[in-house]
Amino acid sequence: MVSDQYISSVAPSPVLYFLFVFFVCVWFLRVYLLYRETLKRNKEWIGPRTLIGDETVFSQIFRPIPGISLGYDYPWLSKHNDYPSDGCDAYFMVSAFPVGYSSLWLSDAAAIKEIASSRLRFPKPVKLYKVLLIFGPNIVASEFDSWKRYRRMVASAFSDRNHEYVWYSASKLGVDLLDNVFKNEKEVVLDDVTEITLPLALYMIAIAGFGREVTFQHDGVVPHGHKMSFKAAIDIIAKDIFLKLLLPTFAFTLHPRLRKLQLAFEEIEEYIKEMIRERQTSTQEEGRPDLLNNLLEANGDSEIKGEKPLTDEELIANVFIFLLGGHEASSQALAFALAALSIHPDEQKALYQQIKQVMPNGELPRYEDIHLLAYSLAVINETLRMYPPVNASPKYCAEDTVITVTNASGSKKLVPVPKNTKIFLHITGVHYNPRYWKDPHVFNPSRFLADYPREAFIPFSSGSRSCIGRKFFETEAVAILSLIISRYKVSIKEDPRYAHETFEEKKQRIFTANIKLTLTAANQIPLVFTRR
Ligand code: HEM
Ligand SMILES: *[C@@H]1O[C@H](CO)[C@@H](O)[C@H](O)[C@H]1NC(C)=O
Ligand SMILES: *[C@@H]1O[C@H](CO)[C@@H](O)[C@H](O)[C@H]1NC(C)=O
Repeated sequence: MVSDQYISSVAPSPVLYFLFVFFVCVWFLRVYLLYRETLKRNKEWIGPRTLIGDETVFSQIFRPIPGISLGYDYPWLSKHNDYPSDGCDAYFMVSAFPVGYSSLWLSDAAAIKEIASSRLRFPKPVKLYKVLLIFGPNIVASEFDSWKRYRRMVASAFSDRNHEYVWYSASKLGVDLLDNVFKNEKEVVLDDVTEITLPLALYMIAIAGFGREVTFQHDGVVPHGHKMSFKAAIDIIAKDIFLKLLLPTFAFTLHPRLRKLQLAFEEIEEYIKEMIRERQTSTQEEGRPDLLNNLLEANGDSEIKGEKPLTDEELIANVFIFLLGGHEASSQALAFALAALSIHPDEQKALYQQIKQVMPNGELPRYEDIHLLAYSLAVINETLRMYPPVNASPKYCAEDTVITVTNASGSKKLVPVPKNTKIFLHITGVHYNPRYWKDPHVFNPSRFLADYPREAFIPFSSGSRSCIGRKFFETEAVAILSLIISRYKVSIKEDPRYAHETFEEKKQRIFTANIKLTLTAANQIPLVFTRR
């Protein structure tokens, strides 16, 4: 039993109680006043207001809750809708929490270019990329001098010779798909397009990134000393990496799925270490120009040049980033491209006509002649415009500054931006900005075959921190798309459940998407491939 005396000694005295309520009220008042002040400071430039701001964990986890949070899909769902139609392509999003928080959103191509090309004034807020530090410091999750060192080294891995190797490897892999998975059958039905695009993107990075000999027929072998195949390990990581972000380390012993994820990480690390060891001890003079070989070569040369070479941990971490970067975005982009061609048969016909002309015998041209397949690249570009895998690129302001934007009648306006303000280069916002794109909601690849506003097309971001894998992706995508379309016509699988849907409803069903690691289709995309 607890004595009365004890209870009365812990019960708050009325004075303490009053003080507590008083301080809570003062705190809320302060939050409110700061919120008002932020609104006033940015008065000309106010966009959406919320209770809880975009940088909180809360907003990263939940869907939109009106008045409270805009949800993690905001950069995708809002497209260009929140920019005033007769004003400037810039607004501050203001929230009560974090206290005094506001972030600047931009869909003005010139302003974006200015920011992306002034890295020191507008660095990357690397703490948003913490999950990518799983294997150690790397090019994506670093800034300033360490980033510079990684970027220089990694850039020499993405060489012309590598891209040529991507082309011929993608060609072999595409033929492997058609001969051994589709088996050249009259009709091939897939319940979901990612059944092929995920392995395609994954194998491409395994082959041209790591020099592994993977094919559709021969995969999933578990080598001596391993508990999991290379492919299985990457599949698991790609699917579940977000759990690593959400859960503490000890959780990974608790559930079979988590233990498997943990094992996958250990296995991948072991595979990468083995590959590095193998290359370092090999006496071969000229290796294959895969990314890993190129990186190791550049690393060897750095010592000669008197630069600090990457440690094994840094090598592994950067190579892991290729795996991740090369996998998700590429597979989703290919999936959306095939889906878009399925619901736009006229576009597919135009594409096929060019392919047939360039590849009369069904074989890809030489790498030097890749430009002949311009329509394929235009389809890829238009897909990336409408469904950009990365929807916004975050920066922050290292100093108080002003950013120049242009209003609807062409006059320049200055947006004052205080030091440390978060800035979002709103990729989806620019891509749907009617100032740059006529009928932005219409899939029209040929807009890329004429003059188009290059600064308003930024799926790979722009400036010094733009995607280093752009050409790697373009090359594999053009090869694989051209090969598939050269032999097969692709369409959406008929389904009695959707017999009466309109074109818009179908578009809605197929292209509803969420932001995961990258933009991901929310529903399965069922496709039928019919032999030409
Ligand atoms: C459709 C395919 C792809 C898209 C849309 C894409 C998009 C992007 C974007 C937008 C960034 C900048 C991120 C930011 O500013 O926050 C980026 C960076 C990067 N990407 Fe990609 N990417 C793709 C494919 C690839 C591939 C295939 C690789 C490697 C094989 C790769 C490797 C990287 C790396 C290493 C960076 C960091 C560059 C740096 O910080 O200096 N990406 N990517
Ligand atoms: C596609 O976009 C890239 C930039 O990402 C550009 O270099 C290329 O010229 C474009 N090509 C076509 C055919 O659309
Ligand atoms: C753009 O700015 C100029 C100069 O301030 C102003 O005269 C004009 O009305 C503005 N146009 C629009 C559409 O807001």
